[in-house]
Amino acid sequence: MKKAAAEAALDYVEKGGVIGIGTGSTANHFIDLLAGIKGQIDGTVASSIASAERLQSHGIRVMDLNEAGQLALYVDGADESNHSLHLIKGGGGALTREKIVAGASEKFICIADESKLVDVMGKFPLPVEVIPMARELVARELTRLGGKSVLREGYVTDNGNIILDVHGLEITDAIALESRLNHIPGVVTNGLFAIRPADVLILGTPTGAKTVTA
Ligand code: 5RP
Repeated sequence: MKKAAAEAALDYVEKGGVIGIGTGSTANHFIDLLAGIKGQIDGTVASSIASAERLQSHGIRVMDLNEAGQLALYVDGADESNHSLHLIKGGGGALTREKIVAGASEKFICIADESKLVDVMGKFPLPVEVIPMARELVARELTRLGGKSVLREGYVTDNGNIILDVHGLEITDAIALESRLNHIPGVVTNGLFAIRPADVLILGTPTGAKTVTA
């Protein structure tokens, strides 16, 4: 189902463009499929070291975002999406760079299997990237907001930070929560992609890909 969604996203790739590439197993399907049409694009910007390495293993050019400028397209997976195409991301820990590349892209195509579409987000623990010295401060603030933070043990992000996974949130106003979490000192990024949601959600189903827009 993830591969079916990735395949459908290929239709959005335009000749000569530079494409932002997400992270995770669904994004990996997209990278592998992109290898088949790599001659048609100018290059890519990766949202993680892992994705950059996979792109390079296929001989796909990986560019620095500062040199690439505005991107036409960003393709990435998600851990949950609601019907407004607000997302929870960061299960793979790449949320900060994912949010940067998504923010630099005109169109964000989210690819996922159909289980990721939910009515209310929060069953999947919300990842929050935190500067290590602020771990306990941020955890206390998250408790005040009604969540239970669990340190992702033994995990360091590509940016040298830690991840707190926040359990028990029922996210009814994702835009407000994303903004609120960004104001806690020590939070680098939170995994809500609601202020800049996906533009198109492609869901893989047992019978093929289905496109959802907000
Ligand atoms: C990585 C992410 C991924 O997009 C998310 O975790 C979904 O992963 P998968 O495609 O493996 O289900 O946000 O930080």
